[in-house]
This record gives sequence, structure tokens and C-alpha cells, in this order.
Amino acid sequence: MAKARKPLVVIGFLGITLDQGTGKQRWNKWRPTLHACGIPDLPVARLELLTTGSHAALEAQVLADLAEVAPAMEVRLSRLPVENPWDFAEVYAALDDWSRAHAPDREREDCLVHVATGTHVAQICLYLLVDTGRLPGRLLQTAPPAMPNGARGEHAIIDLDLSKYDRLKTRGAKDQREHHAFLKQGIRTRNRAFNDLIGRIERVALASDEPMLLTGPTGSGKSQLARQIHLLKRRERRLAGPFVDVNCATLRGDGAKSALFGHVKGAFPGAASDRAGLLRSADEGLLFLDEIGELGLDEQAMLLRAVEEKSFLPVGSDKPASSAFQLLAGTNRDLEAEVRAGRFREDLLARINLWTFRLPSLAERREDIEPNLDFELERFEVARGRRVSMNKEARERFLAFATSDEARWPGNFRDFNATLVRMATLAPAGRIDLATVEDELDRLRGSWRASSRPDTHAAFLGELLGAKVDDLDRFDAVQLSEVVAICRASRSLSEAGRALYAASRRKKSSTNDADRLRKYLARFGLDFERVRGT
Ligand SMILES: Nc1ncnc2c1ncn2[C@@H]1O[C@H](COP(=O)(O)OP(=O)(O)O)[C@@H](O)[C@H]1O
Ligand SMILES: [Mg+2]
Repeated sequence: MAKARKPLVVIGFLGITLDQGTGKQRWNKWRPTLHACGIPDLPVARLELLTTGSHAALEAQVLADLAEVAPAMEVRLSRLPVENPWDFAEVYAALDDWSRAHAPDREREDCLVHVATGTHVAQICLYLLVDTGRLPGRLLQTAPPAMPNGARGEHAIIDLDLSKYDRLKTRGAKDQREHHAFLKQGIRTRNRAFNDLIGRIERVALASDEPMLLTGPTGSGKSQLARQIHLLKRRERRLAGPFVDVNCATLRGDGAKSALFGHVKGAFPGAASDRAGLLRSADEGLLFLDEIGELGLDEQAMLLRAVEEKSFLPVGSDKPASSAFQLLAGTNRDLEAEVRAGRFREDLLARINLWTFRLPSLAERREDIEPNLDFELERFEVARGRRVSMNKEARERFLAFATSDEARWPGNFRDFNATLVRMATLAPAGRIDLATVEDELDRLRGSWRASSRPDTHAAFLGELLGAKVDDLDRFDAVQLSEVVAICRASRSLSEAGRALYAASRRKKSSTNDADRLRKYLARFGLDFERVRGT
């Protein structure tokens, strides 16, 4: 059985110009409100006619004509308290208030919101109210007839709930997901803070050509991300030129200026021909200055000028060269501290600090270790042309370790990726098993222990003391490592004792050096043989 139709309510603004009409002629003119209420097959039970301002004569005329077109229809006129019909906030608030009080009950009535009349502001506000569900119903669009020969025009009903429009609405979201995936190379990272960060980077990369600064520890992915930002900008046509990648740590001394800014032939001995320099090469493209903290102060000044004026002087030239490059800088240093120490120009920092993004360390993104594991295994397969898998227990063991507090990943992705490459390479028959994982974990623990030594003198303490090295105060570690070094350079305990206690010996305040040394070593569970032996 067909459902009984609910009464139809139309909500719409009085069309201050479009609904005008005088004399008999008016019946030949297209007037949207009359059109909306006179559509055959769409009998309107009630019209909610909204106005702003006072238009008494027009209102009277339209009401009289509506009574002729739709005699059974009820018309309710509401004058919205709006002073400026172009003020978005005011119109929206007035409409929102009106709908709270008068919106049809969707259970009992069908509702069409007529959007052919009213100012653009009013139409947009109506659209928003329908789109957000504050006004129940569908949009009614009316338009004048294609041939100007009568009052009857075209109409269309638009249901914003239908999937067609859902797809429209999700288009933007889909683009954004694509950009995210693009910046992340398709790695489905789960860390909320990281994903938010990528979202912000994406918005800035697509909206601004100003310098950006990527900070974060070594191996956190700054260089990688810089490359992806370039690709994204290129794809979205924010730039057309190349990606020029420079590690400023390699630009030391005299060559730095000419490498960056170029030189003219004869500028200095050895300048046999003109050189364009990296800034010129990055014209219309992206210049990535990695480790920008390593740049000399002179070069920093020239760079600032180049960023601000898009021009600079090549070495030995008095004619400025120009380049429209976008600047992306990377650093793992605290540039503010560098400024305080006089090693980095404050004005340059201010210029590149506008958009600063700090990439988290891997230890801060433990949820992302698993997606990265799969990503790297695939990458290995593509690069080496052979498939490597990981059996279940191996995978569980590895992930448990890799995401634990014990795993510090000091070199971040560089360490992590190296670990996977080692395991994949050593995997028997292309399958990483538990034994391969355990071997790798031992190796990692050993190397992290060695690198967590309190200072560089203590290189061998990790090997000598094992995990106990972590319990050593730095104070003791420094002393002990020196003692170990002397012992290793000596043939006997007495010889080492004489070297270590030479001053006391001269003052005759100590006689038994060997015994003193033996007791010192014993405090750490060590003896001379053991120290010499390893
Ligand atoms: N999100 C990531 N997932 C997996 N590997 C990454 C990721 N970002 C970078 N890498 C890899 O980690 C290594 C270090 O990245 P890189 O961008 O050079 O770091 P940084 O410049 O911060 O020192 C590179 O081998 C790079 O391919
Ligand atoms: Mg780098």
C-alpha cells in the first residue's frame, strides 16, 4: 500500500525583485515564489514566507496572487529581525532562531526549502541549515523558463542526504586523505600527533610559498618529507621547478658561497668559468637546506637577502642574479640556542621560523612501528626483487621489543630500517624466523649499550660490564674508562698502578699502587686480567 503523502510545507524568502509584478502582465512574468507554490503534482499545504525589512505593498500583492494560484494553501508570513541582509552572522542567527521556533515537524510534514529567492547570504544560510539538519527537508530550486514566454519555469528538488551529494561532500575529504597518504608515502601511520602534524604540513604546503622549517632528531624523516613536500606542491601546481637538496654541513669554508650563490669566471683563482650555484638551480622549485644550522654567518646573511628579495650577488659579480625558489630548511639543532650562542642569525631564524614543524622521534611514535615494518619489508622486496616474510612468533617478538621502552632507536628510522634490512638479508629461505630476530635484538642491545655510555672515553665499558654499565654514574664511568685504558696499555697490574698513582708516589703518600688499583677494580666486579683480556 502506498504511503499517504504528508502535507507539504515550503519555506522561502519573499523575492524582493523577482516576486515583483504589477498589472495583468504579472501573470506572464516568472515569479519564483508563485512558481514554487503552483507546481502541478506538488500541492503545497503551507508556505512559510520569510522577509527582512518592510515591503508592505509587495507582500500584499504576492499574498493576493498566491490565494489565486493555491487557494487551499495556508501562508504564514514571518519578518526576521535582520538589519543588514548581507551580514552573514546576523542572517544565520535570525534563521536559526526562526527554525527553532517554526521548523516543520518531519514526522508529520514534508518540507521543501526554496532557495531561488533572498540574497545570496540568505540562500547560503538556508543551505547550511538544511545541510546540518537544523531545517528538516530538501532544497527546492526554481528557475525561469528557458524560453521567455510564460510564468512557468523549471524546478528541481535536491536531497542533501542522498549519497550523490554525500559523495560531493566527501570529495574534499578524499583529496585530503590522498595528500596525507602522499606525504606519508602511503604508510598508514596511526600516531595521532604525527597524523595531525602531517595534516598541518599539508595545509601549509598547499597554501603558502613561504619558507618552512623541519626540525627533529636525526633519522626522523626530515629529508624524506622534504622530497614528498616537493612532489605534493608540484602535483598541485604550486611550483614547477626541481627539488634541490643541499646538506649545509658539506658546505664549509670558501667553497660554500660559490656553491650556493654561484660565481663569475675569474672571481677567484680556479674560477675558470661561470657557475650558476644551487639557488639558481632551484629557480621555480624547492631548495631544501638540510642542517641549516651548519651554514656560516656570511652565507646566512646572503641567504636571508635572497629569500626576501629573490635576488643575490654571485661571488665576484656586481650584477644581482635572481631565483624564485621556495625555501625548506631542516635542522636537528636548537636554532634558538644557536642564536644565543651567536652562531645563527636571529633575523634569518625569524624568517624561516614562520612555519616550523617538529618531526617526532620513532620512540614517540611506537604505534607506527608495525605499519613501518610492513612498509619496509615491501620496500626490501621491491628493491631486491625477492620476497621476505616474517613468521608469526618472530613478528610478535620483534614488535614487542621494538615498541618497548628498552628500544630507544637513537637513529630513528635510519636504525629501524637498517635493522629490517639486516634481518631480511640474513633470513633463511626468505623467512625471518625467531632466531634471526633474537640475533638482531642482541646486536641492537649491544650497540645501544655502547652508545649510551656516559661519554666517548667509556667506549669499552659496555663490552666489559654488560648491562651493569647502565647503573654507573657518569662520574664513575669517566674515571673507570680512563683506568681501563691505562690497564690495557700496561703489561702488569704494578705498571698500571705506577702510571695511575704517579703523583701520590712522588709525594710518598701511597706505597702500594697495585693493591690500590686492585681494590678500585674490584668495586666494579673487575680484575686486571679481565680488563686486559677483553
Ligand atoms: N616515515 C618514514 N617511514 C619509513 N622510513 C622513513 C620514513 N621517513 C624517513 N624514512 C627513512 O629513514 C631514513 C632517514 O630519513 P631522513 O629523511 O634522511 O631523516 P633525517 O633527514 O631526519 O635525518 C631514510 O632511509 C628514509 O628513507
Ligand atoms: Mg636529513
